[in-house]
Amino acid sequence: MNYTFPHNFLWGAATACYQIEGAWDEGGKGESIWDRFSHTPGKVINGDTGDVACDHYHRYEADIALMRRLGLKAYRFSISWTRVLPFGAGSINPSGLDFYDRLVDALCAANIEPLLTLHHWDFPQALHEAGGWINRTNLNHFADYAAILAKRLRDRVKYWASFNEPGVIAWDGYVSGEHAPGERDPVKAKQVAHNLMVAHGLATQSLRGVDSSLKVGIVLNQWMSDAADDDPKSIRYAEDAWNRSETTFLHPIFKGYYHPEYIEFSGGLPEIQAGDMKLIGQKLDFLGINFYSRNLYNAQGHVDEVAGSEYTDMDWEVCAPALRRMLNKINSEYNVPPIYITENGASFPDEVSGDGKVHDLRRLAYLKSHFIQTRLAMQDGVDVRGYMVWSLMDNFEWGHGFTKRFGLIRVDYETQKRTIKESGDWYANVIRMNAVEE
Ligand code: FCB
Repeated sequence: MNYTFPHNFLWGAATACYQIEGAWDEGGKGESIWDRFSHTPGKVINGDTGDVACDHYHRYEADIALMRRLGLKAYRFSISWTRVLPFGAGSINPSGLDFYDRLVDALCAANIEPLLTLHHWDFPQALHEAGGWINRTNLNHFADYAAILAKRLRDRVKYWASFNEPGVIAWDGYVSGEHAPGERDPVKAKQVAHNLMVAHGLATQSLRGVDSSLKVGIVLNQWMSDAADDDPKSIRYAEDAWNRSETTFLHPIFKGYYHPEYIEFSGGLPEIQAGDMKLIGQKLDFLGINFYSRNLYNAQGHVDEVAGSEYTDMDWEVCAPALRRMLNKINSEYNVPPIYITENGASFPDEVSGDGKVHDLRRLAYLKSHFIQTRLAMQDGVDVRGYMVWSLMDNFEWGHGFTKRFGLIRVDYETQKRTIKESGDWYANVIRMNAVEE
């Protein structure tokens, strides 16, 4: 069976600056909360840091040559706020802005559509010390940062996402403390979540103020919530879980209010100022969805280990049909703009074979099944326009350091040698054919 995709389908791959760039204090770059966090003993496995990571800051041209070899039509990346504004606000660092200018130029020269994310978690340390996401002045700084970039790149970058996964910023950064800044304060976290939405709204206005033709969106990570059987209790658990945790951003952005179950579950409303909900609910040009797995519920509650299911190296269940169900659910419950899968992929403990190659057949199968389920969701009527595989290359996986590999391209961190994996060669063929063969 051959699943053919629409003519202009945007096949690509994604990365994030802190995970690949390295050069953490070069070229006038300021410190981010991830620099501080990873430099704090005990925070990241093996004491790994993003100081060098994939050294992409110095190797971006060679990396773009690899993107060309894969035939990517698009590349999703994020901007390091402190490379552009070392203290998050105030004076611009020209060489930081120049770096992204050169990166975008090189992408355009390679005929690769740049998809830019303004903030993928590496918040400026200076702004963190000035109250972080709780201090509303910092929300305006985010909007100003957006405008600075838009002024410089708008002639070449069409797609602008405000945030990557605001939920992870709030819950992992301020509840579990597993991510920077490593705090444990659920009340603060809920306020951060709200303020991130306000910052998203302000940045949306600010980008459009610079150029009304820019396509502005946001990237949300969503896990489908499935019932294991048709026991009403299982169904109830699955629905409650979705309402409590998966509507956090979808609801305010696309309905203009928080889901009552989210509010109840999280212990009441955050502080909302006049005009906030209107800012948050501005019409968007696209919705980015990051999908990795699902949560499953039976009459007893969450099923921690699904019998018979495959799990990735992150301990995430592989369940591609959940992606199709979720796309349909979001499409029917919200009035959403065109959707881009902005991340999807899998970590497996790859091995380099005797032939020097990486035969990552499990990753290949994971991607194939998710591409197919996406195509089926499109046939169901969901408007999906593109697909960014996470990730272009192995990289710094946050608290897991370099122990988790998600790349289509293997990175040897000792030598910085890149090797396209079998999944990468396979993906190149999918892109060339614009089709997936089952
Ligand atoms: C997502 C992040 C991305 C990467 C993948 C595995 O939550 O956006 O940076 O860590 O998970």
